[in-house]
Amino acid sequence: MSHADETEGTRRDFIYYATAGAGAITAGAAIWPLINQMNPTADVQALASIEVSISDLEPGTQITVKWLGKPVFIRRRTQAEINEARKVEVGDLPDSDARNNNIGTADATDKNRSLDESGEWLVMMGVCTHLGCVPLGDGAGDFGGWFCPCHGSHYDTAGRIRKGPAPENLPVPVSKFLNNNTIKLG
Ligand code: FES
Repeated sequence: MSHADETEGTRRDFIYYATAGAGAITAGAAIWPLINQMNPTADVQALASIEVSISDLEPGTQITVKWLGKPVFIRRRTQAEINEARKVEVGDLPDSDARNNNIGTADATDKNRSLDESGEWLVMMGVCTHLGCVPLGDGAGDFGGWFCPCHGSHYDTAGRIRKGPAPENLPVPVSKFLNNNTIKLG
């Protein structure tokens, strides 16, 4: 075998491997999202829905739980907080949609956002709709609900945006009562 043949052979091998490599990467990229969707890891399955005990919550207090990697606020509101939220006209709200994943598009009345008829329970994602910071709670801000200090978004006692750059009300996730003491998220 001449030196020229060896060089040729080496070059062909190189081209062959390079092509095979590129092909493998392309196939891998195409197949991965499918596998990823069809077989969520045990970790993701475990978090897809969670049950939260609310038996220790007194009126006027809240807990924050982590669900799908994000904070969820569960607040047991006082009658004063409920009254405050229920007297607001939808027309006065910057975002007039309830943003409640349990009911779809609806007016942002307090009744359309709270989990029970009386309005005692409010469940919502603790993620500011401006740029995703976690707002402060327990009566924070100008409207007695939540306040996001990042850029000054004020939410009322129903978690609706009232002032500041956030464009939407804090979203209410899919949630329901399993019994008097337990709320299921997801
Ligand atoms: S992230 Fe909340 S105001 Fe900017």
